[in-house]
Amino acid sequence: MADMSGAATANSAPEVLEGEEGVRRRDWIHIAALSTAGVGAASVLFPLVIQMAPSADVLAESTTDVDVSAIQPGQSIRSVFRRQPLFVKRLTPAEIQEANSVDVASLRDPQTLAERTLDGHEDLLVTMGVCTHFGCVPLGSGEGENRGDFNGYFCPCHGSHYDVAGRIRRGPAPLNLAVPNYEFKSEGVIRVG
Ligand code: FES
Repeated sequence: MADMSGAATANSAPEVLEGEEGVRRRDWIHIAALSTAGVGAASVLFPLVIQMAPSADVLAESTTDVDVSAIQPGQSIRSVFRRQPLFVKRLTPAEIQEANSVDVASLRDPQTLAERTLDGHEDLLVTMGVCTHFGCVPLGSGEGENRGDFNGYFCPCHGSHYDVAGRIRRGPAPLNLAVPNYEFKSEGVIRVG
């Protein structure tokens, strides 16, 4: 019996070892397969990342510096930001008062003038010159142009009227003229983007 038991032990040991080796072999195959998949994924992702990186000309266009120092109260200038028109307007004290006298709760897209300008620069209104209806360029930034019924901008495509703060007041446009991100890069110069 002892011999048989010993034989059984002697016979079962190699089976266990084979099993362990089998497991180890399978693990290795899995690891190797995963590693290969990882390399494959990396080699696919790398060109994708390269392709998704913005090109130099796009990066150059991502910000626009605008010298606003010469814009007098009541005047506007047009610039271009990311290939779209940008309006920069210096409001007069009367226009600021006009904008602040509006009941904001009554607006379609409620925003105060302060929320649409930088702290301490409530007189400088920077907006995209793109109607929020179907994207036409509103009038009002050029000398003598139609400013609509609210002394701001007027979109002639379908008759949207924006007020002195660029807020939609009448017509089909759903939103105020968009205010892009910007900051003062230096005194008199803003960096948009
Ligand atoms: S695109 Fe301006 S009102 Fe329609």
